[in-house]
Amino acid sequence: MMSHPAVRLDHLTCRFPRKGNDDLVAVNDFDLTIPMGQVYGLLGPNGSGKTTTVNVISALLPPTEGTCRVMGVDVRKDPSTVRSRIGVVPQETALYNDLSAQENLQFHARLYRAPRGERQHRIDEVLDLVGLSGRRKDRVGTFSGGMQRRLALARALLTRPDIIILDEPTLGVDVQSRNALWERIRAQADDGGTVLLTTNYMEEAQALADDLAIIDHGTLVATGAPDELRATLGRHYVHLHSDAPARWDELEQTEGIAEVRISGDQVRVEATGSHDPVRTVLDFAASHGITVQITSVRQPDLNDVFLALTGTTLRDQAA
Ligand SMILES: Nc1ncnc2c1ncn2[C@@H]1O[C@H](COP(=O)(O)OP(=O)(O)OP(=O)(O)O)[C@@H](O)[C@H]1O
Ligand SMILES: [Mg+2]
Repeated sequence: MMSHPAVRLDHLTCRFPRKGNDDLVAVNDFDLTIPMGQVYGLLGPNGSGKTTTVNVISALLPPTEGTCRVMGVDVRKDPSTVRSRIGVVPQETALYNDLSAQENLQFHARLYRAPRGERQHRIDEVLDLVGLSGRRKDRVGTFSGGMQRRLALARALLTRPDIIILDEPTLGVDVQSRNALWERIRAQADDGGTVLLTTNYMEEAQALADDLAIIDHGTLVATGAPDELRATLGRHYVHLHSDAPARWDELEQTEGIAEVRISGDQVRVEATGSHDPVRTVLDFAASHGITVQITSVRQPDLNDVFLALTGTTLRDQAA
């Protein structure tokens, strides 16, 4: 059998009609291939089209133009097959607050026709996985936000889907619950599963994603492994003190140095991510016979990548 990628988007475009205005283009001519067996991240600021894209992939929203195939199945032609193969944790965790954790899972197992004889065993298993066994009989309305996100993940795992889709899995979740969720998500892929997650936290993309797509205003800006993207597009910042600050001006001519800013006896050197900036700085000081004291080095992060690609930061845009 030919092996299909987990997701394949070809010229995906999603428009929403607006009264008395042009259509809002949420996703614009988006091409993307997501392989099986990875954690794949969609990173972008608020309103960049992540949820819209995920809703198309989940067969909840038909594309305006272009195609979306999930494991080779066209979402437009066979949405129910697509839905049967994926488990979705939506951005707004839609759980039943008046039911207990266990009842929520029982309801979902029935809805998705999980084999009757296996239901209880699977419910026990997923509750255990997300660390909620002890709270199974409690009403979900009494759960904290982080516990609700974990239960939503348990529910997505219940049907043993080929692909798990998580829309902002740790939004509003505390550090402890976040780490527990990250571990579960990572373990899923380490066991051969496929996970697609959206996030506007660069730390999350960095920590979890094998590969990621950066999107902005509904268009694809870049794809690659987080480290690759950081190395080619990120910026290092080296802050230093020197007895001859003015002479550092000349460092700007060196390959890999994007900018040198001098204020008083302090110098800030901005270097492209593919060079070792500390080495460059030390070599420069030695060859010019000037002293240098490096006070800090900031490694490039995905925010620098986003800035380099779009001219704005992930946060600037967050409305
Ligand atoms: N049902 C809808 N009707 C009209 N406009 C919509 C609809 N859904 C999304 N949009 C618009 O599409 C754009 C993309 O929204 P989307 O929810 O996909 O962004 P997002 O990247 O998930 O953002 P966030 O990080 O805030 O969750 C936004 O401008 C949004 O207002
Ligand atoms: Mg969203």
